[in-house]
Amino acid sequence: MLVPSIHKVVSEEQTSNLADEFVKEISAGDVIVLNGELGTGKTFFVKKALLNFGITDVNSPTFAIVNEFEGKGKFYHLDFYRVEKINELYDIGIEDYFNDKEAISFVEWGNLFSDVLPKKRIEVNFKLNQDLTRDIEFKRYE
Ligand SMILES: Nc1ncnc2c1ncn2[C@@H]1O[C@H](COP(=O)(O)OP(=O)(O)OP(=O)(O)O)[C@@H](O)[C@H]1O
Ligand SMILES: [Mg+2]
Repeated sequence: MLVPSIHKVVSEEQTSNLADEFVKEISAGDVIVLNGELGTGKTFFVKKALLNFGITDVNSPTFAIVNEFEGKGKFYHLDFYRVEKINELYDIGIEDYFNDKEAISFVEWGNLFSDVLPKKRIEVNFKLNQDLTRDIEFKRYE
């Protein structure tokens, strides 16, 4: 079981392998929150995770807040980084995304507006260390 656990990775390949293991533990209706500073690897992780479902065109959703993908399943990729007010999230119908039991949501920078996050969620925390290793931590909230 990957959730919960913490891993030190030293290459993109290791992050990619973790993403491949992680997707085996998620299913429709799940909300996955990815926290961590700029460039720590949140988008990289989502990209690799979604490759497992036949989705090859994941990019940062920074300007749209949310991108929607259909592959082997339905996916929302959200990024709260450029959101200034919580009302921007309510305006796009944030709860409808999270309540969609047919989709899996990935939320980068979810910690910036934790009030809108469902209680039941998985968090993946990314940290880039001075020695350029990365720590990736998986946690489940019920
Ligand atoms: N072990 C690693 N795991 C993940 N990414 C790595 C690793 N080593 C190097 N990288 C590189 O680090 C960069 C991480 O960028 P990415 O866009 O995924 O960060 P981010 O956390 O989404 O940043 P932002 O907060 O700006 O959205 C990528 O260019 C990736 O190629
Ligand atoms: Mg990103």
